[in-house]
Amino acid sequence: MNQTIELLTSHRSERSYLDKPIPEDILASIIKAAHLAPTSMNSQQVSLVVTRDARRRARIAELAGGQPWIAQAPIFITIVLDMHKTCLGMAMNGKQQVAHESIESLISGSTDVGIALGALMIAARSYGLGIVPIGGIRRDPKAMIDLLQLPELTFPVAGIVIGYVDIAAQQKPRLPLNSFCHDERYRGELLPEAIEQYDKTLMAYWHHIGRSNGNNWSTNTANYYQNIYYPNVLSTIQQQGFKLDK
Ligand SMILES: Cc1cc2nc3c(=O)[nH]c(=O)nc-3n(C[C@H](O)[C@H](O)[C@H](O)COP(=O)(O)O)c2cc1C
Repeated sequence: MNQTIELLTSHRSERSYLDKPIPEDILASIIKAAHLAPTSMNSQQVSLVVTRDARRRARIAELAGGQPWIAQAPIFITIVLDMHKTCLGMAMNGKQQVAHESIESLISGSTDVGIALGALMIAARSYGLGIVPIGGIRRDPKAMIDLLQLPELTFPVAGIVIGYVDIAAQQKPRLPLNSFCHDERYRGELLPEAIEQYDKTLMAYWHHIGRSNGNNWSTNTANYYQNIYYPNVLSTIQQQGFKLDK
């Protein structure tokens, strides 16, 4: 196994961090990895906001529904879907942006955000740092927008905690590979058995790490997906000037 594959296949989300700063040159190189990542049509509709200040990290931890690791680790980066930049570039050329009025832009912009998030994760872990992605910033997106002073046509899609790990997490198992990667056509007929199998695997994993309140995957997913997990996203994204209807 080469080092890159080893890094990718040893991924885990860490939720216990030391109060130890990250050297600025390391942070700069992690950010560069995301800066040079590809974007749809070279639109570069992604921006990062780096939060170092402890009080602001504590506020984000609170806004994300009480996630102490955000306050604990020295760096939090918000990854912003940014169509303000593209709009400005177009206006400088006397053109009016329409793309943000379509769900297509939300898909392509969120894909670009995900690619940037992946680059940040891998780059940080290559320095022996721990990470955890944070979707919890969409719990109260308006408060995040105010905190980071994000302009119209931007939206904070996800964040990432980066820091030195205190108590290391165990690697979490996944659904069987045949439910993830399909040969030639989607093989839905394999799913029920794969899900049943994984429900057992995940329960064994919770037992192994000493967590007594863990649910199996299908129950856990149902707990989240019976409802819209972050219901304020639609109204806030519309207030930011995005539309879904073209
Ligand atoms: C986009 C995204 C958002 C996430 N949001 C959170 C979050 O707000 N808080 C958290 O503790 N973990 C969050 N996670 C981490 C997932 O819970 C985690 O990836 C999943 O349980 C699998 O565990 P693993 O990453 O350790 O393999 C997020 C992951 C992703 C990819």
